[in-house]
Amino acid sequence: MITKPEDDKIPKHVAIIMDGNGRWATEKGLPRTEGHKEGAKTVKIILEHAKKRGIKYVTLYAFSSENWKRPKEEVKVLMDLFRKYMKEDVKELQKKKVRVSFIGDRTRFPEDMQERMNEVERETADYNDFHVILALSYGARDDMIAAIKHIALDVMDRKYMISNIDEETVNEALSTHGIPYPDLVIRTSGEQRISNFLLWEIAYAELYFTPIYWPDFNEQDLDIAIEAYGRRNRRFGAV
Ligand code: IPE
Ligand code: IPE
Ligand code: MG
Repeated sequence: MITKPEDDKIPKHVAIIMDGNGRWATEKGLPRTEGHKEGAKTVKIILEHAKKRGIKYVTLYAFSSENWKRPKEEVKVLMDLFRKYMKEDVKELQKKKVRVSFIGDRTRFPEDMQERMNEVERETADYNDFHVILALSYGARDDMIAAIKHIALDVMDRKYMISNIDEETVNEALSTHGIPYPDLVIRTSGEQRISNFLLWEIAYAELYFTPIYWPDFNEQDLDIAIEAYGRRNRRFGAV
């Protein structure tokens, strides 16, 4: 068996599908929204620990483009939580010199939240020790459609020829441009699907599924996922 060099055992970029908030709450006889509140606390703990473990990029799937179809009341509670998160928790991240970016269709959010997202990105743009990417109103298909339109326009403007379009052209047109591909995708709650998350970017990521609901996921669980990753024999299609 090929063993990996020590520094390859820690994924550089971890992408997390934070699932199971609703079931966590329902099983406790609480409204689903309580699960979302508890899930926000987990985010704080996991980011802190990821940084400590030497992970450089964490992408968190917090709200999908499909999640807008949830009941109005649940969407409202989530919006209030995101707004609070961006005011308080993101401010703390800024103080710790964490770079924060957002991917997803931000035009669907209220104006004040859009402004806050732009401001945070601007203010943290020069930090490069630890980068948190929040996927909000994100859908990989939408992101790819936007990228295709972008590339088509560039071709029409004769910036390059169709024959010159390559992997890098697509990377540059996606909202994740400049961010290395995820090495490890973690999904909590027992579901084993991707749910429209980073389809292009995770082509060769290692996938890790755990039955633990997101509000219960803790530092030790992240360590277990990292350990499992460290034992994987990564392949990228070559022999
Ligand atoms: C994930 O938890 C959080 C969001 C999608 C916002 P869910 O709300 O999907 O929880 P379950 O899957 O219904 O338990
Ligand atoms: C995926 O979870 C999106 C987030 C975790 C934000 P969902 O709970 O929305 O996905 P499905 O509906 O189970 O595929
Ligand atoms: Mg879910």
